[in-house]
Amino acid sequence: MSKNRARTSIDAAAPSTYREIYARADADPEGFWRAAAKSIEWIAEPRDIFEPSRGVYGRWFVGGLCNVCYNAVDRHVSAGRGTQAAILYDSPVTGTKRTITYSELLAEVRTIGAMLRDLGVEKGDRVVIYMPMVPEAVFAMLACARIGAVHSVVFGGFAAAELASRIDDAKPKVVLSASCGVEPARVVPYKPLLDQALALSAHKPEACVILQRPQWEAELQPGRDRDWAAMRDRAAAGGRGVDCAPVGATDPLYILYTSGTTGKPKGVVRDTAGYMVALHWSMEALYGVKPGEVYWSASDIGWVVGHSYIVYAPLITGCTTVLYEGKPVGTPDAGAFWRVVAEYGVVALFTAPTALRAIKKEDPEGRLMSAHDISSLRTLFLAGERADPDTVRWAQAKLGVPVVDHWWQTETGWAIAGNPVGLGRLPVPAGSTGVPMPGYRVDILDEAGHVVEANRMGAVAIRLPMPPGCLPTLWEQKERFVETYLTEFPGYYKTADAGFRDPDGNLFIMGRTDDIINVAGHRLSTGGMEEVLASHPDVAECAVIGVHDEIKGEVPCGFVVLKAGVARGPDEIEREIVAMVRERVGPVAAFRLAITVSRLPKTRSGKILRGTMKKIADGEAWAMPATIDDPGTLGEIADALKTRGFALTAPAA
Ligand code: COA
Ligand code: AMP
Repeated sequence: MSKNRARTSIDAAAPSTYREIYARADADPEGFWRAAAKSIEWIAEPRDIFEPSRGVYGRWFVGGLCNVCYNAVDRHVSAGRGTQAAILYDSPVTGTKRTITYSELLAEVRTIGAMLRDLGVEKGDRVVIYMPMVPEAVFAMLACARIGAVHSVVFGGFAAAELASRIDDAKPKVVLSASCGVEPARVVPYKPLLDQALALSAHKPEACVILQRPQWEAELQPGRDRDWAAMRDRAAAGGRGVDCAPVGATDPLYILYTSGTTGKPKGVVRDTAGYMVALHWSMEALYGVKPGEVYWSASDIGWVVGHSYIVYAPLITGCTTVLYEGKPVGTPDAGAFWRVVAEYGVVALFTAPTALRAIKKEDPEGRLMSAHDISSLRTLFLAGERADPDTVRWAQAKLGVPVVDHWWQTETGWAIAGNPVGLGRLPVPAGSTGVPMPGYRVDILDEAGHVVEANRMGAVAIRLPMPPGCLPTLWEQKERFVETYLTEFPGYYKTADAGFRDPDGNLFIMGRTDDIINVAGHRLSTGGMEEVLASHPDVAECAVIGVHDEIKGEVPCGFVVLKAGVARGPDEIEREIVAMVRERVGPVAAFRLAITVSRLPKTRSGKILRGTMKKIADGEAWAMPATIDDPGTLGEIADALKTRGFALTAPAA
């Protein structure tokens, strides 16, 4: 790549067309999305742009037929992008780089599609993909889309029990996996985790296809396990590439599990056409990226950001996407992101604030940044957790490009609010996640469901119907979908985020209203962790809260009350509890702190005062709740935290 590229700046002073476009979508949603839908190729045009009587709150593009893989791959080859890089795989943890052109990607997805067909996978069958950040994982996702199978990618940092619960829910015909993942300090054998998961799950897939990686070779179980390379090569040698199947616009493209308030994960269903249309719209309008440009989302394909912005959106748009198997720091240093930006000419980078905090800690002066020519970069996008204004200001000053915070959820599949740089960037204040994207009618509600005035905190809710791309339901849990999202505020989708809106319409997302915590941009359920703690034979009761962490934003902290008569020391039990969470939820939970206390603070009606416990742990001012049963219990929590090195404040008067 050439040095000293001229940066195409996006002029914040240029008038933005955002308000006009938002108003147009608001006044005529069907007209707006009908026009947006022209950006994709249809096998059969939809009969209805929106049908309100379909599904729980209506469905988009009913009656249409299309194929996501065709739109992400085949049509770009037909349009002359065959020699353009589709995927730039960059893996500092294995020392590997690979460029895959659109033509090569087409050949691979045709072949992997044939491999799936050889295993009897048909349209509508589920395929679980439990793989690290390797190109084969992307081929697999696209190949599923190609034949109309429904993929469900499971993040590699989850433990076997989490994988098992997803397998039991999705009931895949086939599991695609790899022998191992590679973390900076260790190789993580995936195959034993898969074997353990399949021993735990009631559902047994017909076959598991294992990609053997040179870092660790897995033993294959005769009958059930197949070797990826052998199967792929057989399909390729037979020239048995498959063509794209016509898929219904409202058929599921994938299921992606996300944390709920219990240990049972929620299978977010993504439909086919609405998702494609929304993602395509977002690439130019929100991210300001054009076909042929290099876009990099430094996330993982196991998360929604990876699904939408490593795989589908950039490829549907005809961009080049970077698939990075590494970390922001330690692979080899805090200059890794800037090396990738410079090497490939990345125009837009999307990451989580936690990654920037990790970089800032190691390279506060940005010396490693200056060592690279990052002049291609036009915008840095942040999401996944609240972006603290300090980190945003640091990044903006060091990079010299706009840093855009935007807010979304696994459920929505694309941003609910942001600063649409492609439409002309708006003057969004620091700490705000910007303005609602077209189709999202966001209100801030009080407990009774009334819209509150500007600057007042409340529950953030989206008026129904939601725009294309958002979840139509939860996989085989329609009642849970209605109960979780649509019941508390009739006519709205409840985001379970709390926040406010300023008089200019900018949204501020401040935290969750449920027990979800955000650990290094990863969404985790404290309720799920409590289920693990409670299953320890010596634990009488427990509470898990998220406490502030300088790098990860939040980390879990568990309090346990031991059963009467437990003779073993609390240290030993605490160590066992930490190991149990790692074993059952996974290392990604970063659960390292279990604290034994003699009782938990509760209200008179028996509710554990988790919110106040969190404030104490975070050193924030807190007030004694009027409903507390025994005021002495909070002092005991504070004492226990002090012994673990927490700096605390006194309660507010
Ligand atoms: N497979 C197996 N294990 C994994 C894994 C994977 N795909 N991803 C993470 N893990 C493990 C790690 O090895 C680590 O294990 P350890 O406890 O043995 O060290 C644990 O899970 C926690 O990992 P991680 O969250 O990556 O924390 P870290 O301390 O290794 O690194 C950061 C800290 C901030 C650098 C890292 O969290 C990061 O890059 N965050 C950005 C997250 C992001 O992009 N999220 C997407 C939302 S948009
Ligand atoms: P996930 O479904 O894993 O993408 O997590 C979604 C949750 O992360 C949201 O409900 C928010 O709580 C949080 N989140 C995501 N993006 C932001 C953001 N830009 N600002 C504040 N919180 C965010």
